[in-house]
Amino acid sequence: MEADNLLTLADENKMPQVGFGTYLINKQDEMDAAVKTAFEAGYRLFDTAQMYRNEQVLAAALNHNGIARQDVFITDKVANENQGYELTVASVDFSLEQLGTDYIDLMLVHWPINTKFFDTWRALEDVKKAGKVKSIGVSNYNRAMLELLKTQATEMPVVNQIENHPYLTSQGLVDYDHAEEIVTQAWSPLGRGAVLDNPMIQKMADHHDRSVAQIILRWQVQRGLSMIPKSVNPARIKENLQIFDFELSADEMSMLDILNRNERTGNDPEEVYELGHQYR
Ligand SMILES: NC(=O)c1ccc[n+]([C@@H]2O[C@H](COP(=O)([O-])OP(=O)(O)OC[C@H]3O[C@@H](n4cnc5c(N)ncnc54)[C@H](OP(=O)(O)O)[C@@H]3O)[C@@H](O)[C@H]2O)c1
Repeated sequence: MEADNLLTLADENKMPQVGFGTYLINKQDEMDAAVKTAFEAGYRLFDTAQMYRNEQVLAAALNHNGIARQDVFITDKVANENQGYELTVASVDFSLEQLGTDYIDLMLVHWPINTKFFDTWRALEDVKKAGKVKSIGVSNYNRAMLELLKTQATEMPVVNQIENHPYLTSQGLVDYDHAEEIVTQAWSPLGRGAVLDNPMIQKMADHHDRSVAQIILRWQVQRGLSMIPKSVNPARIKENLQIFDFELSADEMSMLDILNRNERTGNDPEEVYELGHQYR
């Protein structure tokens, strides 16, 4: 990855703008092949989670491909059942063991949960102080949750990883994150495929001689977001990173901005916050 695709986080650590999502990649041979293609294509950020049950598989794939720990940025997430102070601390130790490393680049709270809200964050602040993680952040937090966190946090998240694609632009939250020096990172940046058959984006893609996925990811780059598209297909893994050599016009950006339908492919964070667990 080019140096200019690195974002500087509020804690001064650097993070690649585009990373590789690994959700649902659990078989070793599939992970080995995906990591090989992704690393060769230039990906340096790999996104895993305790919930994906593939931390060990990812670590083995990095090993099998001869990729040194310091050459990649690993994002991990505390699973809902591991929230609360003691469990979070213990779960980070277990993640370090699974990943076969002595540090995680970025550890996120996977989902906001009302009963564990402050204790989980305090645990992440402490594991960061202990040097076990370099940066700490959250996932699926809305503005009100971040404002609430601010009332007790010693330090604020440097990343907020949220579902974000043309059918769910969450512009208000993206603007808020930006003003608070929190990098918004898009999960399901392609809407898990749901936006790929949009005829307007297809026209734009034809015009630029690019794929629909590349137009969407380029739109996110120009909005200043980070993103972690997932693919196990070698050609798609490569094309998802080939988005730094063309530009969308201001008009094209606006046309994409107005596709918003507030349409989620995943859980609604407010429901998860209240229920204490994911519901689908
Ligand atoms: N924090 C959270 O709560 C949260 C929630 C969900 C996901 N995530 C993270 O975000 C990552 C990405 O999200 P996601 O996997 O849900 O969805 P996504 O990246 O939006 O979409 C992945 C789907 O699109 C296909 N695809 C990928 N690139 C393509 C391309 N260029 N052209 C056509 N199809 C393409 C993939 O199929 P093929 O593999 O066959 O190419 C796969 O079916 C996950 O892997 C995970 O790391 C985080």
